[in-house]
Amino acid sequence: MGAQCNCQNESNKKVEDLLAKHRGNPNSLIVVLAGIQQELGYLPKDLLIRVAEELNVPLTDVYGVATFYAAFTLRPRGRHSINLCLGTACYVKGAPEVQEAIEKELKIKAGETTEDRRFTFDVVRCLGACSIAPVMTVDGEVHPRMTPERVPEVLAKYE
Ligand code: FES
Repeated sequence: MGAQCNCQNESNKKVEDLLAKHRGNPNSLIVVLAGIQQELGYLPKDLLIRVAEELNVPLTDVYGVATFYAAFTLRPRGRHSINLCLGTACYVKGAPEVQEAIEKELKIKAGETTEDRRFTFDVVRCLGACSIAPVMTVDGEVHPRMTPERVPEVLAKYE
């Protein structure tokens, strides 16, 4: 870890710079949260406490903003994002079985991220591609007519 790249350290430095730049300025709350989200991909709990202290904002307000905007997430996300459609057309064509296969393959439930941060899996409503149901996307790439059997093979493409 860290042998090839010290990206994490660089990110930490950027976060520290951001906090230093906006220290004592409550009006910068959204800017700071957006910066941390961009650097780390999510808003770690301990950093939210730091943000509250550094910007002089009540922690409840920091949480309020962090949970209000969909762009912010309090949990780490995986490198790859799987969306499985559970809209009506996909549902009747077997999406629930595909969901089961994904959950079994990755050992997580919908809404969760794998421990190795490789995948985050979410279920969504109609992706607007009902004619090729059931539909799954990975990082926006569409995988039509999914079956439980195809799940391991499709996921294997994403390292
Ligand atoms: S219901 Fe799944 S794409 Fe429309």
